[in-house]
Amino acid sequence: MTDSPVPEGTSVTIDLAALPHDFLWGTATSAYQIEGAVAEDGRSPSIWDTFSHTPGKTAGGDHGDVACDHYHRWREDIALMRRLGVNAYRLSIAWPRVVPGGDGPVNAKGLAFYDELIDGLLEAGITPSVTLYHWDLPQALQDRGGWPERDTASAFAEYASVVARRLGDRVTHWATLNEPLCSAWIGHLEGKMAPGLTDLTAAVRASYHLMLGHGLAARAVRAAAPGAQVGIVNNLSTIRPATDRPEDIAAARRMDGHTNRWWLDPVHGMGFPADMRELYGVELPECPGDSAAIAAPLDWLGLNYYFPQTVADDPDGPAPHARAVRRGGVPRTGMDWEIDASGIETLLMRLTDEYGARRLYVTENGSAYPDVVRPDGTVDDPERQDYLLRHLAACASAARRGAPLAGYFAWSLLDNFEWAYGYEKRFGLVHVDYATQRRTIKGTGHRYADVVRAHRSQVREAA
Ligand code: FCB
Repeated sequence: MTDSPVPEGTSVTIDLAALPHDFLWGTATSAYQIEGAVAEDGRSPSIWDTFSHTPGKTAGGDHGDVACDHYHRWREDIALMRRLGVNAYRLSIAWPRVVPGGDGPVNAKGLAFYDELIDGLLEAGITPSVTLYHWDLPQALQDRGGWPERDTASAFAEYASVVARRLGDRVTHWATLNEPLCSAWIGHLEGKMAPGLTDLTAAVRASYHLMLGHGLAARAVRAAAPGAQVGIVNNLSTIRPATDRPEDIAAARRMDGHTNRWWLDPVHGMGFPADMRELYGVELPECPGDSAAIAAPLDWLGLNYYFPQTVADDPDGPAPHARAVRRGGVPRTGMDWEIDASGIETLLMRLTDEYGARRLYVTENGSAYPDVVRPDGTVDDPERQDYLLRHLAACASAARRGAPLAGYFAWSLLDNFEWAYGYEKRFGLVHVDYATQRRTIKGTGHRYADVVRAHRSQVREAA
């Protein structure tokens, strides 16, 4: 156990003995958020280059042109991971670097970048976990209709095969998609992320082709890299009704369908939930064989967890006719997201009990706060530390209760381009000074290293 002081003078105890000996302690990033070098070595624009360069779409007009310059500084970033003592790293591959046209010719320089990065990680004793799609669709495919079109799913599988053929001799952990909910609902329905549409039909079609793309890509990765462990990463939420009025309870059920069940049921052979199909009222572009492809058994499920939701009935609002209610008097992060560590435990147990998950990873979890570098060069971030430790404790508690939790990836290794929020929101364990690209491990990074070390020594003692 590690006894960790937190700001209020209370303490958080993490039941480290509940975690497996080979637990993956990682950090996570994604390509567009950290790499920069958007026009280098043959990379083509993605929908996020287009979106972030469209006036008014991101805070301060921020974009990923330079970001953390990880494309040039990845060796330094691996050295940081070593200092944190982590044994895993979740990264994403930029499709527009590898197959700039979306389909067709492969860009050797793009693949070479990831090839070297993977070798560098392995040399440092860090297990890579590779996500194939973290939202950076090649703009060329968007120009042909993007995810609402079926061809995008097959192009995704083709690209997945290219990557797996090249890296599959060294990479065993593969995720197809990161948070398809955001691509479909936030990108095509709410318009707050690329490609910035507000069209229910496009959104539902996109969601369908994302899930189909997941299934086809999973098959392609397994064919190219026997022994690959393939999963999908979803951002799920615990959802409570704002009141006990039947209308709000029904709204919470709809929001659960929209946020959780729509993404979980089809990959578990249950099809897309009937209540939500009816609610959206959009015909799914189904073809024979699709549901089997989507439901191909997975080796693992990834959970990204940040906050719980409280919702009320909103009959006139957009699907799913449920609006978020801001609860007063509860702690919140710098994103204004409510903090509730018990939610991560509830979701891990739900994946275990309701969906029979065979292996689980927390693929993202973390918090943003406005950090300051002190005159002595350190970054003290007690709230983030508290968030991390409480969520780790809840994860260990789920493991104790039988959740097959095999790893935890803190979001994020570095402060980075937080999508529409730009650079102002800092989620890193490591602070980045964007003017100089100087990296500074924050207090939370040091504390995470302590937890990893404590687990390691417990494992040694048990051996
Ligand atoms: C998740 C995204 C990740 C990051 C965190 C804060 O939804 O997967 O890229 O933006 O939120």
